[in-house]
Amino acid sequence: MIKIDNISKRYPKAEKYALDKVSLEINTGEAFGILGPNGAGKTTLMGIITTLILPTEGNVYVDGEMITRNRIDIKRKVSLVTQHVSIRRDMTVSEVMELAGRLYGMPVKQIKARTKDILEFTGLYEKKKQVARGLSGGMQRKLMICRALLTNPKIIVLDEPTVGLDPHSRRKIWDLLEMLKQKGITILLTTHYIEEAQSICDRVALISNGRASEVNTPDNMISRLGSYTVDIYDGITTKSYFFDTKEEAIGFAGDIPGKTKLRETTLEDVFLDRMGTELGEKVK
Ligand SMILES: Nc1ncnc2c1ncn2[C@@H]1O[C@H](COP(=O)(O)OP(=O)(O)O)[C@@H](O)[C@H]1O
Ligand SMILES: [Mg+2]
Repeated sequence: MIKIDNISKRYPKAEKYALDKVSLEINTGEAFGILGPNGAGKTTLMGIITTLILPTEGNVYVDGEMITRNRIDIKRKVSLVTQHVSIRRDMTVSEVMELAGRLYGMPVKQIKARTKDILEFTGLYEKKKQVARGLSGGMQRKLMICRALLTNPKIIVLDEPTVGLDPHSRRKIWDLLEMLKQKGITILLTTHYIEEAQSICDRVALISNGRASEVNTPDNMISRLGSYTVDIYDGITTKSYFFDTKEEAIGFAGDIPGKTKLRETTLEDVFLDRMGTELGEKVK
């Protein structure tokens, strides 16, 4: 279990806190999503959990152990896949894996065996002699995940793992994350793609302006807002209205002249509703 206990972070000289008293608990084996707009504090939080960034206040515990107490051990247990592609583009897939293994101080034999397993598991084995530069964006992201799996981590932290990818490649990464979940690996990911969180995550936390406002399953968030949505276009903007039952939604839509659309509520609606006060007009 990961326990994020009252974490605050203020960067040197920064006026405001990047994170402001964030507390979250992520269960073992869970896929947990941190959802928030740019600048919300997601990368900062991932950096703190993986000991790359020191918090101004608060502590993080992994399986009861304070992460700053035993960094080497934590680094093997908790692997980070960074937001930006960070692989040597002149190296082959195998070399990228070998370099990472050496940095972890793993014996070469073990690196080779683990690399073969991981590349086979993720479908990258046939690319092992290819230079990273020549791989597609999706493959490069996959390679970063492979590299993060080298130490056999219990927890994998992914900071916007599909940012910039086309929909097809994005789904391939989702499939891979689903496979990791099946293996019992705890997945903590940040994203601003709502569909990604809805597809992969057992629970999500909404974060904005450094504060985590709400933690729940995507389904619960949706049903709390109202499972059915009526969109009304008034010629200038679309406003959404939320209802618990389809009957209520139909009743409401029927009374409105003009362009209305009835549909199921998505996590995106929840996100827009919660962030509405900060990002623009509140719709409800
Ligand atoms: N190294 C840094 N120094 C100063 N401010 C930073 C630094 N990194 C991030 N910030 C600020 O902290 C806030 C949160 O950033 P970040 O964690 O990158 O958000 P996100 O990943 O959600 O986009 C932003 O206001 C950002 O400008
Ligand atoms: Mg970020």
